[in-house]
Order: sequence, then C-alpha cells, then structure tokens
Amino acid sequence: MAVLKIGSGRKVFVFDLFVWSIILFDFIKISTKHLNFYLWPKITFGTFVVAGLLIYVVPLISAAISFFFRNTFRNTISSSWRDRSFLFHCFTSIAFALFVSLSTELEVLSGFQTTYFGLVPITLISYEYSPLYKKVVYAAAASSFVISVLISVFSFFSYRKELKSELILWFRLANSSSDYFPKQKANLIFVNTASMAPTINWISTKEESYRHTYQRKVPTSDDAKHYLTSAAEESRGLLREYLFHENRERGGDFSIEFLPGTSRALEIGLTQIENLGTIVVSPYEHPSQNNVVEWFVATFNPSIKHEKLKVDYSVLQKSWNEQKMRLIEQINSAISTADNSKRIAILISEVHYLTGMVIIVNEIIETLRRNYRKSNLVFMVDGSQAVGNLRQPLNTLANNLHREDFYYFSAHKWLLSPNTCGVFVAEQNASRYAIKPYDLFGAGLPSATVDPGVIFGIRSSLQYLISDKMANLEKFHETSTLLKSYFIEKIGDQFEVIQSDSEEINKSLFIAVRPRSGYRWKDKSVQEFWDEITRDAVDLTRVDIEGTDTWWLRISFPYFLQPHQLKQLLTHLRARVTSVN
Ligand SMILES: Cc1ncc(COP(=O)(O)O)c(C=O)c1O
Repeated sequence: MAVLKIGSGRKVFVFDLFVWSIILFDFIKISTKHLNFYLWPKITFGTFVVAGLLIYVVPLISAAISFFFRNTFRNTISSSWRDRSFLFHCFTSIAFALFVSLSTELEVLSGFQTTYFGLVPITLISYEYSPLYKKVVYAAAASSFVISVLISVFSFFSYRKELKSELILWFRLANSSSDYFPKQKANLIFVNTASMAPTINWISTKEESYRHTYQRKVPTSDDAKHYLTSAAEESRGLLREYLFHENRERGGDFSIEFLPGTSRALEIGLTQIENLGTIVVSPYEHPSQNNVVEWFVATFNPSIKHEKLKVDYSVLQKSWNEQKMRLIEQINSAISTADNSKRIAILISEVHYLTGMVIIVNEIIETLRRNYRKSNLVFMVDGSQAVGNLRQPLNTLANNLHREDFYYFSAHKWLLSPNTCGVFVAEQNASRYAIKPYDLFGAGLPSATVDPGVIFGIRSSLQYLISDKMANLEKFHETSTLLKSYFIEKIGDQFEVIQSDSEEINKSLFIAVRPRSGYRWKDKSVQEFWDEITRDAVDLTRVDIEGTDTWWLRISFPYFLQPHQLKQLLTHLRARVTSVN
C-alpha cells in the first residue's frame, strides 16, 4: 500500500494521460472501420490481471524513479492530490485492461491475424486494424531492457552500504504528502527545531481554518468564546494523552493551562510560591530563563536571592552519575547559604537546551527532597526541550511534583505549533489563583485581549502529532532518530558530538557539535562564521561558550530532513574548520 501511495502523483498522472490518448487514438481509428463488437463477453480473467498489474507496477516504477532522483527533485504534493491521482490511475488501468481485451477481438474482426490451434498465425489479407498500444509496449519493453542493463551496471560499480540506510530514510517519508513538510525557502537546510519549529503545511492550514471559523462567529459573541474554550479543552485532552500516557491516574491530579509564551509560564509559577526566599537556576538551564528570574526578582521582590549555578562544560561528556553528583553538589551548596526559613525554588530542565542530554529530574528531586511534606524546596521543571522531543516527557516525573511545584514548556518548538504558546502544568489547586493571571487560558478565557491563535496553534499541532494514537509522533520520532544516527555516523574526523558516556540519556533529537581536538574553526570571528553558514542557507543554533571565544553548534533532526541535506550540511561545516597546525 505504501508503495502505491508513494508512487501515485504527477508521474503516474502523466502516464495515465498518455494511456488515455492511446485509447482515444485507437477508438477514432476503430470508429472509421464500422466493426460490430460486444464488450462484455471479452472480459476475462486476463482483463483483471492486466488491470491489477498496471495498478501496482506503474506506481512502483514511479516510486523507484523518485528514489533515484531524490536529491534533485524534492517537491512533494498534497495528500489529496496523491489520493485523487491514485483513483484516476485505478480507473485508467481498468479502462485500459478492458480496451486490451476488446482490441484483441477487434484485431481479429478487422482481419489482422488469427491463430490455428494457437500455434500458426494466419494473417488474413484485409489487415485493417492493429492497436497502437502494442507498438508502444514493444518500444517500452525494449527501452526498459536497455535502461535496466545500464542501471544494473551503474549500481554494481557505485554500490555502497549507505544506499540501504538512505533508501530506508527516503521510504519513511516518501509516502507523505506536502502536508507533512514545512513552508520554507527552497533548499534551506533546517536543523533548528530546538529553537522554533517551522510552519508545517497541514498544521497551518488547520490553524487558519480555526481562526476563520472563530472570526465568522464574531469574536465577542458567546458562541465564539465557547468555540475558543472548547479548542483549549480539546488541546488539554490531547496533551494529557501524551504527557500522562504511562501515568494516567496521576495525570488526573494535574491542571493544564495555556499562556502566550514559555517564559510567562515560569513567571506565573514563581508568583504562586508563598514565602519565596531563594531561586536557584540549574547550570543546564536556558539563559533566557535566567533572565526571566532576574526580571521577576527585580519587579516582584528584590529581596529574593537569585543564584545562577555556573556551567561546567567539561562535565557534559561524563556519565549521568557523575553529572548528577556534580549538579546535586552545586545545588546543595546554594541551598546551604540560603535562608532556610523561606522557600527555595529550583529551576531545572528536563532536557539540556544545548546538548540534548536528558536530565533525570526524578532522581535529582528524590535526592534533594527526601520528604516533600517537610521540605521547603519547590521544583520548577522546564520541559521546553522535552515535550515533542522525547516519547515520554513528564509521565512518572509527575509523581514527584506536588503543591507549588510545576512543569512548563513551549508548544512552538518540538510540538510544532505555528504560534508561540507556553503550557503550565501543576497539581490542581482551587486556591492557586486568588488573583487570576490576566493572560491565562484556564477554566475561563484571559481577561486581556490575547491572540486566539495561541490555542488554535497548539490544537492543530496536537491533532497532527497526537490524535490517531500518537501515530505521527511515533513515526516522526523514529525518522528523526535514524537521521541523527546517520549524521553521527558520517560526521568524520573534524567534528565531535558532545554526548554523555551514558547512552540512555542521549536519546533526544538534537545534539551539540564542536571541532574535534586538533581542529578549530577557520573563521576569525563569530560573525564571519555566521555570515558564511547562513549564506549557505543553513538554519541552526550557534551557542557561544561562556568565558571563551569559541562556539558550538546545536543541530536538531526534524523528521522532514533528507539524508542528502545532512551530507550538504557536513560539507558546509567541514569548510568552516581547519587543523590546528
Ligand atoms: C529549555 C528552554 N527553556 C526555555 C526556553 C525559552 O523559550 P522561548 O524562547 O519560547 O521563550 C528555551 C528556548 O530555546 C529553552 O531551550
């Protein structure tokens, strides 16, 4: 089935038009002969065989052509186009099979040839009609023989193992229509989902249709408000399905609320912590979240102590246990100098924004807070790089989040929402919002005027990824994982991937790379490097390493990348390094 879908499309459509023109040509010819014929007695088993073969073989050949030209022609078509073209192809194949059965009879009727005991062809004198398709089939058979000999010779000499992995990767998305691909500049090498997802066609079409319906209902009307509230409710349901997949019961204790941005979720969570004395920011946290804390302290209560723990870049390739011990040591030392009569809030990411390393937050919480009822520690877990990237973000972590603890993330990164949206997840608590935040989509709508696209975006992207039992999320995750392995396998001597010694925490869909020892960036300045790499139409994140004048690159593997784009990326990257000597 997948092959039929992959193959159907423009090529098959052109083929079908060609078939119709042959049929038409012959019919015009036949109509001048005034032959009497009956169609139904000519329908035999052979008719079905011809129809079946055509239905299957033509898309198969078309799929093979697409694979061989995968690096040249990348444009795909919409799913509905593919389906229509396949239906048309079935119709054409059946028509052609009927035509073949009939034309054999017509040949005889017109006196072209008949056989005696099926052995000796007897040609009658008044030869009048010979179907055009026979000549075409003979010509096609002869030329495909020549082409297949050439291809076999070519593949024999150029056979490489990698062709197999490329075939698998190509096949995984080849049956996808343009709906699955982003709206982007042609030839862009986009490896930046960890920053902000590009707009996926299917998602943006859905989102626009929701906006349109909302506008038609007149935004101030109760009907429109109800429409928006139920869109938020549906998104909540889909998120529950994903976030609490393995932990449904506990999931029922949590509320899920939406905000116009990620950072606003952190800010709101912070305002709900009573008697807050200290905020500790993990060294793995994204710098922008540290800015949010700075801003919060300055505006909310400048007497709150803010501790940003220093990043130790040398620890990032160590095992999880070593990294965990170092992190706990750093947090403990911050706690020891904090005012213990007040609450201490700890901000920690579930996935490190730079290396993609999975931080097993459960273990950190369990080590630091042996008894949550007596503890003055509050955990704020940033899942911005985890949700949509990991197959099971949050899940059992929810068992360790209580009272003012919270989990938050963005929908516009790995969840592919076309609009910014922050999601706030915390234990349900009726008294949580003595004063309701003005921009929060909770049980009610925000009191401020907020873009409804915040909700329509996440609703559309969740429908895309999560509905249908998370089929797309799973499929995309597997494809991205294959792409990541493909890239790492090909990376070569000049680069190294910053990965932990503990394989189990290297499972996210992005990595950080830097020049391997013995190599360095060729460009004198960051700006020079940036100018060159963006000129090559590469979209990635450059992370400047604190306290040095060097930088690392963060590379994400969105499912829609093609292997040849990763090869191109490597060529561009190799051009930017030189050996140290
Ligand atoms: C882990 C993490 N948290 C928070 C953010 C900030 O998200 P936003 O840019 O949507 O405010 C980022 C941004 O990349 C991030 O990686």
